[in-house]
Amino acid sequence: MKQLTVALAKGRLAEKTVELLEKCGVNCAPLKKDTRKLVLCDADEKYKFIFVKPADVPTYIERGVADIGVVGKDTLLEEGKDIYEMLDLKFGLCSMCVAGFERKSESITQNNLRVASKYVNIAREFYASKGMDVDIVKLTGSVELGPIIGLSDVIVDIVESGKTLEANGLTVLEEICKLSARLVVNKVSLKTKNAEIMPLIEKISAIIEEKTV
Ligand code: PRP
Repeated sequence: MKQLTVALAKGRLAEKTVELLEKCGVNCAPLKKDTRKLVLCDADEKYKFIFVKPADVPTYIERGVADIGVVGKDTLLEEGKDIYEMLDLKFGLCSMCVAGFERKSESITQNNLRVASKYVNIAREFYASKGMDVDIVKLTGSVELGPIIGLSDVIVDIVESGKTLEANGLTVLEEICKLSARLVVNKVSLKTKNAEIMPLIEKISAIIEEKTV
């Protein structure tokens, strides 16, 4: 058996991912310890886990330093890497939305719209598909501040519970797409480690279908 290197996105998808792996029979006890280690193995050493920033998961997979990974569809759309998206894991459900002040909703079709986002590629593509020429401002977090302090008219961001928007007096103006966690695989690994990857994918797929995660 060849060891698989798994890239896990730190943050909101991590807990559900570990839960899913445990249901597949992976002994995740070492992953649950409170540690700042970035590389850990399962108890049986069949898997090596690397904990990376969500936006970097597709890079590790594309470069082949990780064989498989779990990452949000938002990151896949934004990063556009050459990797296989094998499964919709059906957790981490949320939407990519345009949000802003309700009272300004009539102005969202203006051509010089200022759009703040962590997801500049998704935003650019969305407005290009509408034939709109907009001014996109790249931020790396707290994008809700954009309309509040007048940096932008709207934001393009993930909405999960809607609480962040609500707490800041903003609202969803348009939904761009639905999002969820995806299982991704390096193209070469799928061939060279097929005997290790496919059984794991089949197990995960069966668990997802049973909706037990
Ligand atoms: C995301 C997103 C929103 C928030 C939405 O940020 O950018 O700010 O979550 O979630 P809600 O609808 O449940 O309130 P995240 O927490 O990932 O942090 P970040 O802004 O630092 O990336």
